[in-house]
Amino acid sequence: MKLDPQELIASLGGARAVAAMTHEARADAMEHYMFRATVAGKVPSVSEVEAQITTRPSRRGAGNLFVSHSGNVQILPKMPDKPTLADFFKLRFHTTSNHVLQSANLAMKNGTSEETILACLLHDTVQELIKVDHGWWGAMLYEPYVSEKVAFAIRYHQALRFYEDKEVGYEYPDVYRRMFGYDYQPEPYIEEAYQMVRNHKWYMEARLVTINDLYSFEPDVNPALDQFTDIIGRHFKQPKEGLGYDNSPVAHLWRSIARPDVPL
Ligand SMILES: [Fe+2]
Ligand SMILES: [Fe+2]
Repeated sequence: MKLDPQELIASLGGARAVAAMTHEARADAMEHYMFRATVAGKVPSVSEVEAQITTRPSRRGAGNLFVSHSGNVQILPKMPDKPTLADFFKLRFHTTSNHVLQSANLAMKNGTSEETILACLLHDTVQELIKVDHGWWGAMLYEPYVSEKVAFAIRYHQALRFYEDKEVGYEYPDVYRRMFGYDYQPEPYIEEAYQMVRNHKWYMEARLVTINDLYSFEPDVNPALDQFTDIIGRHFKQPKEGLGYDNSPVAHLWRSIARPDVPL
């Protein structure tokens, strides 16, 4: 297939954004770009998507930190003894940070609440650890440190992505047809979660995450984490011992993101 370097750089947010990316993040973004370009003309069926499983050395649900899409994995930068959320953004959320920063930036531009902006900022970051059921995993990761409403929005954005809501301008994403197959039907537990959330008083909290969720990088939009420092300060309960060392029920999830090279 023909690769247009200019288009690739633009799709990643411009030359500055590409320069700021780690080697792995760049390789990963490149793979996504190639994937999108390869399938652009053809949307696969569920059975075609399934047939691709045995063509890869890893499973699609594996977390980004654990899989390299080009050669071997690289040495990760050292984490401080008492890591903060910002440290995880800088040192571990390599493949998800640009996407969630753009989503939070859009939510801010759209004038949503600070809690919605925070939910957008955190919504996909757990994909560094695990991708399958990332809504539920993400809510679990953040639950001790954010409000119930923010955790709710993170948990259910995953299910709501599969259901359009034209009244608020949310349509089924085209990229899902390519990712899951054009004839994909969400699992019954996803449908049940959707039905529950549809009638829940916090429906819009989760829906707003999907409305501000961006699948393609917006060229030349590279929001920095600093833009959200005050919101994090007001709505994220940073443990003084550091994330991973506060004996919370999810401390081991944070340690797994911090230390993915430990064999056991
Ligand atoms: Fe997501
Ligand atoms: Fe997302």
